[in-house]
Amino acid sequence: MPTEPRGAFEVAELRAGYGKTLILDGVSLAVPAGGRLALLGRNGVGKTTTLATLVGQTNRHGGSIRLDGVELGAMSSSARAAAGLGYVPQTRDIFKSLTVEENLVTGLKGRSRSALEEAYELFPRLGERRRNGGGELSGGEQQMLSVARALLGKPTVLLLDEPLEGLAPVICDTLMAALSRLDMTILLVEQQVDRALDFADRVVFLDRGRVVHAGPAAQAKADSALLERHLGVALAA
Ligand SMILES: Nc1ncnc2c1ncn2[C@@H]1O[C@H](COP(=O)(O)OP(=O)(O)O)[C@@H](O)[C@H]1O
Ligand SMILES: [Mg+2]
Repeated sequence: MPTEPRGAFEVAELRAGYGKTLILDGVSLAVPAGGRLALLGRNGVGKTTTLATLVGQTNRHGGSIRLDGVELGAMSSSARAAAGLGYVPQTRDIFKSLTVEENLVTGLKGRSRSALEEAYELFPRLGERRRNGGGELSGGEQQMLSVARALLGKPTVLLLDEPLEGLAPVICDTLMAALSRLDMTILLVEQQVDRALDFADRVVFLDRGRVVHAGPAAQAKADSALLERHLGVALAA
């Protein structure tokens, strides 16, 4: 029997912030199962707050978050993870005092240790470094570890917050190539606009906690006026 595609993600009218301060003022977006959405915008517009709200780390004042039709909004962060949300935060929250392998084990969520081979297959570098401490890793290796750990939980939707930040171009290539091989729904926040638009099917631009544009990624990439307006950058031709 063919399995149903999983990972259809629908966010409607999200209003959220920190304490009483409202940052997101009605953010809506939808990613079909297996789709890839880039979430872009200038610094401070609410991209990280959006992802943090999806995983239950801010105060949500309203709106809905549905994964395959199931409402996640009232669930705890850990229940959302169990329901299929994987999160790679901007801060790369790996444990520096644990080894690479021990870090990965924290992502197993009850799966057997043999699943660790999936991580080493995706990022052979992590296999070579499995006995090294998290604090001994380069920035690129830490990011690979952070991504690999999130994937071990077998998410159906992966949320990535600026995975390329501070990484050398060759490491960005490696990371994007690995992400391109993943078969799941992906929501990517990234400042490297050209790479993000090449990766994604669709794009949503945020400004001051609101969606100001949504459309096909390829179309946005070809529209320098649009990019200039929402990001203040022009891509090289
Ligand atoms: N923990 C926090 N407490 C209060 N305000 C915050 C917090 N984190 C972010 N903000 C504010 O929320 C707004 C959006 O920030 P953020 O979501 O980090 O933007 P982006 O990721 O798009 O750069 C900014 O005005 C920022 O100062
Ligand atoms: Mg951010």
